[in-house]
Amino acid sequence: MIHTSSYWQQHFKHNLTIQRVDWSIEPKLMNVERNDILYSLKAWQLGETSDGSHLLSAANKYARKIEDKDYVAAVKLFIKEEQKHGHNLGRYIDLIGEERLKKDWGDTLFRKIRYLNKSMELWTIAVIIVESAAQIFYEALREATDCELLQSICNDIMIDEAHHIKFQNERLFIIFQNKGFYNKALSIAAYSILFFGTIHAIWLGHGKALKAGGVNKSEFMRRMYYMFFKTIKFLHSAEKMAARLAVV
Ligand SMILES: [Fe+2]
Ligand SMILES: [Fe+2]
Repeated sequence: MIHTSSYWQQHFKHNLTIQRVDWSIEPKLMNVERNDILYSLKAWQLGETSDGSHLLSAANKYARKIEDKDYVAAVKLFIKEEQKHGHNLGRYIDLIGEERLKKDWGDTLFRKIRYLNKSMELWTIAVIIVESAAQIFYEALREATDCELLQSICNDIMIDEAHHIKFQNERLFIIFQNKGFYNKALSIAAYSILFFGTIHAIWLGHGKALKAGGVNKSEFMRRMYYMFFKTIKFLHSAEKMAARLAVV
């Protein structure tokens, strides 16, 4: 099913009112856990704090073209939810007496790509790939620690991210279904190159934390491939879905 932008706007508005993290729990991160996950925790915290201005400018341009003002409002709320993740992880880093990262190679690389990227389609597929990795990463982070506060922050993010993937998959479907055969084939090739590059960069940066959470390289690649495959499959349910487009 493809939901309207107004549906997503309502979803994000409502979700932002739900407080799932219990800040009364005292943070307890053991030294061995710190050694395994701290770098990745800080790097993802930095990545979640973007102001979203480049995404918003691509969304504005795209929404004008398709005449859907609600889409911009939905994207604004989506960015707010990402910033909530950054805020919660940052608060946790402060509570355990650690310094937040101000710079990280992965974040710098991704920011440079974001700066160059003006296409809504490329934005959407890039976000889908990163959010699929986020699902695996935060689950591994939760498994890598006994700290209940960190576990509850991870659970909250995982609930949000599952909806983010749906939101972005539906947008990519809307963009993809208007393409001709050759364009579709070229797009799938481009998505695959981006997917391949991104998963290796993520493993390179965060393999240690993922392994601490029980996810080795082949398991990470297998799960990423499964999620990517699900996205590609979703894009090809066009015939069945076109008839149901914008019904909710
Ligand atoms: Fe996030
Ligand atoms: Fe997200």
